[in-house]
Order: sequence, then structure tokens, then C-alpha cells
Amino acid sequence: MPKIYRDNPKDIASVARLLREGSLVALPTETVYGLAANTFNPDACRRIFEIKGRPLIDPLIVHINTWSQAYLLALMNSSAEKLAKVFWPGPLTLVLPKKDCVPNIVTASLPTVALRMPSHPLMMKVLAQSECPLAAPSANPFGYVSPTLAKHVIKMLGTDLNHILDGGKCKYGIESTVVDLSDQLNPRILRLGAITEEEINACLGFNVPRVSSINYKQGTKGLPSPGLMGKHYSPNAKLELFKGETPPLRDKIKKTATIFFQRRQTIERTRLSNCFWLCEDGKPETAAQHLFDLLQQLDQENYEVITVELAPEQGIGAAINDRLQRAAVNY
Ligand code: TXA
Ligand code: MG
Repeated sequence: MPKIYRDNPKDIASVARLLREGSLVALPTETVYGLAANTFNPDACRRIFEIKGRPLIDPLIVHINTWSQAYLLALMNSSAEKLAKVFWPGPLTLVLPKKDCVPNIVTASLPTVALRMPSHPLMMKVLAQSECPLAAPSANPFGYVSPTLAKHVIKMLGTDLNHILDGGKCKYGIESTVVDLSDQLNPRILRLGAITEEEINACLGFNVPRVSSINYKQGTKGLPSPGLMGKHYSPNAKLELFKGETPPLRDKIKKTATIFFQRRQTIERTRLSNCFWLCEDGKPETAAQHLFDLLQQLDQENYEVITVELAPEQGIGAAINDRLQRAAVNY
């Protein structure tokens, strides 16, 4: 059982020291929990891949808390500065040409590095005290649903992990938006996330193309981001998606749950059992906060099939649908 640390000066100091000296710690961020290591300690970073069962070709995001760290680790450009000024600290990851000081294990030997300045107050304190940038993917086994509560991390990785900082529930519940700015003239959105496509476009003043992640399988040539291969964020249950009022007919043999986007009267009228919803208020932000938690709860209850209603395709709703579509891929 891992040791649980909390928001007090002694625990934060311990976590920061552990990280600086090469231990791994699961930490809260405003998006999801991350599994962190000192970026400049390649052995510690390698253990992240081992614990997650993550292929070494899938690079890690480096979390920073100062602009000088950004300039130390990456070749910043004016578009990156524009976005970072507006959205950092916050759920935006920028892919930029890397500097030599970033170990190859972190970037999967790519010439680029992904940088993010998170806004979670505990993560910011840890970054400030550890005095090292922290490489951290989401703290889940590779391909599974991301953790939004410390108890998810304990359930998923508890046997392999010694330290968890409990920061309560993650504010956004969905991962950061990843924008590739390594070629400043051809920026691309590699992953939809908590910062919306509309916000990115408004900040840069033009429409940034989105790379469709669904069509890529592991090993595909020309893959723009190694982590973009099809199946990801998947619960154990088979996921089926639907749009509109009526869910598809249920499998009568398998244990099936239905997740609606919003609670509404028609759900009560159809009298379906095992019905759940992502929000009561119709806001995609609320739905995003609950999505991964609900999928994990339903897995624990051994549902075999989960039928999920897609979110309205605006704002963070597009990121919810991206996660659902990738979770429902059958390979
Ligand atoms: O919100 C988040 O981003 C969370 C928290 C912990 O910060 N982190 C997270 O990390 O979601 P991870 O490893 O689960 O997803 C990072 C994504 C992967 O798809 C990875 O392939 C991509 O970012 N990525 C990392 N470095 C890259 C690079 N140099 N070029 C292209 N894609 C990169
Ligand atoms: Mg992940």
C-alpha cells in the first residue's frame, strides 16, 4: 500500500525531496493525476514506463513552473509564447523542438519535447520546492481510463507505487490539450482537451488543424504523436456510443449499463435499469469531471457493455467525444 501525502508543508517538502532524489510520486493536476519523476533522472523516468506498461516510443509530458524552465528545455517561438501567456498555468501542452538537456527516454528520442505548466496548487508547490521539471504521464496503466481521484491511482497502480499526494478531485477531469508548435508555420492540435479548440483558434487568430487520432493504429507510419494510436482511455467493459434520444437496444445476455449525457425525463419514462448520467446541468464541463470516475465505477461493478451517449460537440464536449471514440475503438 503506498504512503498517502496531503496538503501540509511537511508532506509537500517530503514529496518534493523524494522526486528530486529519484523516487516516483503520483501527483494531482487540474486535469488528471500524473505519475511523476525528475525529468533529469533517466532511470526514474524509465520506471514510469515500466509501472504503466507504456511502450518506450510514447513520450512523456514535462511539467514546469517557470518560463525560464521552458526556455531551458525547449526552443520557444512566438506562437508558443502567445498561447502560453494566455493559458499557462493551465491545461495546455505545447510540443516544441527540444534542447539537448532533455533526456531521450523522456521524449522517446524525438527531436521535440511536450511542455506544460500546470495550475493545480499542490502540483505548483511541489514543482517549486523540487526545483526540477517533472516528467509525468497520466497515472494509469497504459491504455486504461485516467485517474481523477487518488483512490483511482491506488486501485490501478497501488501495488507498484510507494508515494501518492492526495489533492482531492481533479478540476477538469480530462487531460490537457496538446498543440504541436514544433513547426511554427504548421501548428496542429494533436489532442483535444480541457482548453477548447475554439480558445486555441481565437488566441492564435486562425484555425489550427486538428489531427484525427482515431485513424491511427500503433506502428502506423507518419504518426504525428506516438500516443495518438487508436484504442486508449478504455474501461474493461466494451463501450458502445450513441447520439440522440434513444439508446440502442440492449444486449439481453450481457450485464449492460447506459450512460446518458444529461439526466432527463425520458430516462425515467423508459424505466431502464442501470442508467447513469454525466451531468444534471447540461454543461460539458460538469460531464468531463465525472466521465472517468463513472467509467471506473462501472468497471468495478463488472459491467460487460457500457452504452454511452455522445456529448454536444462544442467546447470541452469535443474532447469528451474524442475520449469516448478512442475508448470504443476495437483494436
Ligand atoms: O493533462 C495531461 O496532459 C496529463 C497530466 C498528468 O499532465 N498528462 C497526460 O500525459 O495526459 P499522457 O502521457 O497520458 O499523454 C501525453 C500525450 C501522449 O499522447 C503523448 O504521445 C503526447 O502527449 N506527447 C508527448 N510528447 C510528445 C511529443 N514530443 N510529440 C508529440 N506528442 C507528444
Ligand atoms: Mg494518458
